[in-house]
Amino acid sequence: MKNLITQTNSGVFASIREFFSPHRYDRGVWIFVVALFALSVMAGSHFEKSTRIYAAGEVAEHNVIAERDMQVEAEPVHYHLKRGEIVARKGDKISREQQVKIQAIYDDAQDVLDPRLAGGLFTLSLLLSMGLFVAPSGKLETPLARKDILLFSLLLLIFCSGAKAFHLLGMHFHDAALLTNFSYAYPMGAASGLVVMVFAARRYYTFGLLSSMFCGVMFQGGLALFFFHFLSGMFVTWLVKRSQSRQDVIWALFPHFLFQLAVWFGATLLAQNTVTDYPGQMISIAVNSILTILLLFAVSPILEIAFGYTTRFRLMELMNLEQPLLQELMLSMPGTYHHSFLVANLVEAGAKAVGANSLLCKVGALFHDIGKISHPEYFIENQFGGENKHDRLAPSMSALILISHVKKGVELAESNRLGQEICSIIREHHGTRLMPYFFHKAVEMGESPRPEDYSYPGPRPRSKEAAIVMLADVVEASSRVLTDPTPARIAGHIDKILHDIFVEGQLDEVDLTFKDVHKLSVSFCRILTGLFHQRIAYPEVKGHHSEKNGAGAT
Ligand SMILES: [Fe+2]
Ligand SMILES: [Fe+2]
Repeated sequence: MKNLITQTNSGVFASIREFFSPHRYDRGVWIFVVALFALSVMAGSHFEKSTRIYAAGEVAEHNVIAERDMQVEAEPVHYHLKRGEIVARKGDKISREQQVKIQAIYDDAQDVLDPRLAGGLFTLSLLLSMGLFVAPSGKLETPLARKDILLFSLLLLIFCSGAKAFHLLGMHFHDAALLTNFSYAYPMGAASGLVVMVFAARRYYTFGLLSSMFCGVMFQGGLALFFFHFLSGMFVTWLVKRSQSRQDVIWALFPHFLFQLAVWFGATLLAQNTVTDYPGQMISIAVNSILTILLLFAVSPILEIAFGYTTRFRLMELMNLEQPLLQELMLSMPGTYHHSFLVANLVEAGAKAVGANSLLCKVGALFHDIGKISHPEYFIENQFGGENKHDRLAPSMSALILISHVKKGVELAESNRLGQEICSIIREHHGTRLMPYFFHKAVEMGESPRPEDYSYPGPRPRSKEAAIVMLADVVEASSRVLTDPTPARIAGHIDKILHDIFVEGQLDEVDLTFKDVHKLSVSFCRILTGLFHQRIAYPEVKGHHSEKNGAGAT
């Protein structure tokens, strides 16, 4: 037991040490820290006094509203002011009570910077940001690249400063209703929707928490407004993730509006606010939904062009089977197209099982072998049981042709602007694996081949998505040799392949645990069993031909 405690402690300390080790982070992480600091200072600053001091009996020049909840101690009485409460209306003759309250509001807004508020926000935002770097398993996440950090910083800065600007505008007009309407109409959820177009869970949760915290403080809306923007943002991420086309996103406008209404109802109860302006607040929520959807459409192309991300919108376009590149693939190499389609089915299930980006995986799988287009007839799936062109080639030549499909694939992906993520999947989908068929053929011919001449150049998969495509690719291609595929045989076959790749070290650069590999194996097995069911129902699909050269199939 003592040993166990010591081990646990050392594990915790090791994790903390690893978390704070500077080499884990890109130097750009400072940009993010500076952005958080700037926003905290901005949130804690009063750019303009909301009121002036009045003497009792004076006539108010404008409405005076409480900027936040506060206690006013004026012995022997105490007043409690609620945020948004109108203390005096324009034209009112100021009473003694109003004078005391206005003085309190004036004093509260006296300091240009509230260091406690700014310091508290900065500390909490730094701690919250840990969620961007740590996975729930406690392991450290895949490090963020500099452009990722830049994107998070920019989105936070732009959206949260926007919130402050609208708050100041509301304050300028001394109109409590306008201030509340602005705080509900502000489309903060669009920022989370943009993040989910590129990043997986955890990162968009963390971003949603950070942005809603700042937004709540900028509008001085408290916990209720924080919940309104956080839950709205998370609903947007859910809608974007489930959309299969841009039209789906447009239709998401209505459920988004209804969900926001429900959150608004809860938030209003939580804040114990008496709503006097129902139509105004409902219109604000409708404006929020419309602006959110518009921003998603307007800003996503900027993420694609300026940052080189393949957003979910772009991935949806690429998945469209009418798309010219896929059409070309289907016409010029139907075998590879069919293989890619099956791999796409496998990776979709696998990615969902291990929490990877399933849309990226699926599109990556559809295009992973586009490089075969220069020599489709050299790949077994396009030979349809006919002559094997490799029989007349030296094994070293065959290996070169196979290797070339990776390089050519990357070139085609770049020229067709498929995005960096898809390019990486294509580049990494064979890792540094050996082509055993041609290597052994060379040995049998009396040569003494070097393994590196018969291996793919790599690199090994660096993202979960590339790793899943690699595994599914090998599973699909090799499953064609299975005779009498019972579910147990399929499971055993998949386990063996995945285990071999894991042991070879091809997954060493990816954050995939043995448990994840097991989950992948279970989902591949489920899909493959279903596919074999179809193949048995249509016996013209031959299963024996890939035995001729197993290495040419993937
Ligand atoms: Fe393949
Ligand atoms: Fe391939």
